[in-house]
Amino acid sequence: MKKLIFIALLFLMAQTYAQKYEGLALKPPMGWNSWNGFHCDVDEKLIREVAEAMVVSGMKDAGYQYVVIDDCWQGERDKDGFIQPDPERFPSGMKALVDYIHSKGLKFGIYSDAGWRTCGGRPGSRGYEYQDALTYARWGVDYLKYDWCNTEELNAKGAYLTMRDALYKAGRPIVFSLCEWGNNEPWLWGKEIGHLWRTTGDIAPIFDGEVGHGNWTSWGMLQIIDMREGIRIYAGPDHWNDPDMMEVGNGMTVSEDRAHFSLWCMLAAPLIAGNDPRNMSQATREILTNKEAIAVDQDELGIQGFKYLRLDDLEVWAKPLKNNELAVCFLNRSIAIRPLNFDWEKQIIEDSFSHHYYDFRQKEYKIRDLWFKKDLGTTKKPLNTELGAHDVILLRLSPK
Ligand code: GLA
Repeated sequence: MKKLIFIALLFLMAQTYAQKYEGLALKPPMGWNSWNGFHCDVDEKLIREVAEAMVVSGMKDAGYQYVVIDDCWQGERDKDGFIQPDPERFPSGMKALVDYIHSKGLKFGIYSDAGWRTCGGRPGSRGYEYQDALTYARWGVDYLKYDWCNTEELNAKGAYLTMRDALYKAGRPIVFSLCEWGNNEPWLWGKEIGHLWRTTGDIAPIFDGEVGHGNWTSWGMLQIIDMREGIRIYAGPDHWNDPDMMEVGNGMTVSEDRAHFSLWCMLAAPLIAGNDPRNMSQATREILTNKEAIAVDQDELGIQGFKYLRLDDLEVWAKPLKNNELAVCFLNRSIAIRPLNFDWEKQIIEDSFSHHYYDFRQKEYKIRDLWFKKDLGTTKKPLNTELGAHDVILLRLSPK
């Protein structure tokens, strides 16, 4: 009996020994990542310049914090197995770069892969998880995106658990971003392991459609939001659904970018910019730094919004906010301008998941337009307007 208790205790200790670093992402993480804008073309000059641009452009002030280098920073492992940055691209070494990012008041993120090679063919972490985690901790890394290429025979939960435990043992709080594309339903098991998990394959800089790449496909913004209905109940503070890094500023029209950004805010998605902050248009800057839209994303309740209504190509999304406020987003999926007549007093918006209830027949709300940045009166009056092609109206409602 004693022996059994002893074994049970040992088992319990082993279970509790390593864990996720709690509390690092109580709000959806915000930052920038090199992949969507630069793919494999990364070096220390780019990363420094982007960090500087994030400060000067107001992105940092608006809440963007993490500067994440995606794939292709890696060189080879040294004779003891320690990963080295590509010496031509990062001649000053990773520690110096991390220190520079920190000196700008920003945080530093890095990328690796659970398989033996990354998607870009650089060394992955398989078999080196503890050593890599230790290296990242020594460099002062604050965020790890962990990809899923070349993992054919691996168990996803097991592989991500191994890296979670390695990060914990390395002793530095590091946000852990699972990039497993939703293949193994990470929303069902990711909460104890990481702070965010990708829900789909890669995003493409298009509003509606898909792009084939031979043996894989990347997805337009609408396809991504359509693909995973029903998983909002798995998201919340410190464990977010991640519909991928943003494509704002990467070639869509201004209204498409505005719609994409608004939807990401409604989804309480991590807001990871993927553009070139050194050369962005005024329109892109204004979208990425719209503090009132960002406040919807970053609302402390952390409730992922939901589709309340779909009528042809019109969707109405709702996201409960603190103090019984509500964000509402009207989305026009079509390429035709359409009239919008929405009589609030005929609506009851109910969220049985978060137990929020908005009965506009009984209660009046003030309305704020978050793109035009002006007050629109109250829900006593129907919303009677036009909705542009591939565009949104994003509102914040507050009890009167
Ligand atoms: C995968 C990921 C992308 C990016 C690339 C890098 O496709 O989903 O976000 O990290 O790998 O090779």
